[in-house]
Amino acid sequence: MPVVDVRTTPPAECDTAALAVGVFAPDPEADTDDAQAPCELTGDAAAVAAAAGIDLAAELGAAGFRGQVGEVVRVPTRGAVPAATLLAVGLGRPDRLTAETVRRGAAAAVEASARLASLGLALVDVGLPTEEAVEAAVEGALLGAYRFTGYRTEPPPFVLESLVVPVEAALAEVATTAVAAARVSADAAALTRDLVNTPPQDKRPPALADRVAAAVADLPIRVQVLDEDALADGGYGGILGVGQGSSQPPRLVELSYEPATARGHVALVGKGITFDTGGISLKPSASMETMKTDMAGAATVLGVIRAAAELELDVRVTAVLALAENMPSGTATRVSDVLTIRGGTTVEVINTDAEGRLVLADALVHVGELAPDVIVDVATLTGAAVVALGDRIGVVMSSDAALATALIAAGERAGEPLWQLPLASEEYGDRVEGAIADLKNAGGRAAGTIFAGLFLHRFVDEGIAWAHLDVAGTAWSTKAHGYHPVGATGTPARTLLGWLRRYGEDPAGV
Ligand code: BES
Ligand code: MN
Ligand code: ZN
Repeated sequence: MPVVDVRTTPPAECDTAALAVGVFAPDPEADTDDAQAPCELTGDAAAVAAAAGIDLAAELGAAGFRGQVGEVVRVPTRGAVPAATLLAVGLGRPDRLTAETVRRGAAAAVEASARLASLGLALVDVGLPTEEAVEAAVEGALLGAYRFTGYRTEPPPFVLESLVVPVEAALAEVATTAVAAARVSADAAALTRDLVNTPPQDKRPPALADRVAAAVADLPIRVQVLDEDALADGGYGGILGVGQGSSQPPRLVELSYEPATARGHVALVGKGITFDTGGISLKPSASMETMKTDMAGAATVLGVIRAAAELELDVRVTAVLALAENMPSGTATRVSDVLTIRGGTTVEVINTDAEGRLVLADALVHVGELAPDVIVDVATLTGAAVVALGDRIGVVMSSDAALATALIAAGERAGEPLWQLPLASEEYGDRVEGAIADLKNAGGRAAGTIFAGLFLHRFVDEGIAWAHLDVAGTAWSTKAHGYHPVGATGTPARTLLGWLRRYGEDPAGV
């Protein structure tokens, strides 16, 4: 992705190809009889219109503009605005405006000016604190401008080179900080998206481990890679068992960011199946089509720890990426084989397609040995999560109510909703018990997501607050929506980053 130049010079100096202004939907409470109640201009839109002598309300009325979130209409400027094109961007109802609305509005403006290199966003005076509005506008624009073009001979003609988000001179400093934060956050999502979008032949475990190390090489992040020999020596039988059908061996990558002033220690664990064929329990072809996304958890925790270091957060972060390729072959793990996870727990493999929990078990034990305060794992773990919540809402399960609440709140702020499923140890806890081994890795169709969570829970020490995010539905989008193009969404990198930012300020407060 080319780097977008972002500036906050005031409107008068705007010299962009397109200028976007925000417009609210009509207030339904106002004048009830009038079905065509006019849209409401934001402070920015009113200022631009007044300065240019445009009757914006009339133009919008004539265009049938309703101010819905993401709706965009081109308003003729007759040269009166310092931009060739004026875009009115719907922001929905003012009483419902959130940072997410601003992100979507900004992305809609980017989409509408797709072939223009420069865009001005007058979306700041919308009723949010300036810092929040600028951060949301820039974040939404950058997320919306993302394209994965590396594998095309002829990249599509989509360019956004510069973005101007005009703010009053007095707020320039606040705005600069907000722009920096937005860029880091959008970059975290872009790194996650890039790795998830990458074809599986170019991210087989050893190559992906190298790419991960390269991605953090410029930052104070220590990288330790366990190769197949180290994994065998350490008794990591889960990840080795999953990876043994592949001609390329697994890797367990540990990244650590440890600032001197750290206030707490958060461990992030990511499922990194670089391609999930199902193994001997082979998936049908259609189910395999999106299985290059099965390393989205690993890509997410990489994006997050990188951003944490860039923002110099006051929290120690350890990220563990469990990378393996789940292939069927003469050397693959068989159904009924028993694997021994690090630490000694044995697992009977009922279904080789339930491989994520096996690699995560090793990774959870590994990171538990560092005795972090919190562990959050992220995984495209179960088809059942997609059945339950679809592709726009992720699953959270947790042993700690406050942690679940904090993650759900962070998800809401980031526009990456999470919904909690019960861990249900009381009701279903014994379902993971094995017949011939300590545990079994699958247990029928009912409550498949909960089963997987309960399985993982067996590998986390009692005293550690733990949450599990099942993002099987949300990591990938088959349709473009909001600021997500088709493909990898980068979810839930921004949620975890937003949560970590608060955690770094006050570990007890989140
Ligand atoms: N990677 C899949 C889960 C998945 C499904 C991710 C759809 C993204 C979209 C996982 O490894 C898997 O195959 N899970 C099985 C478990 C079952 C065999 C117990 C599933 O959900 O069917
Ligand atoms: Mn699988
Ligand atoms: Zn999988």
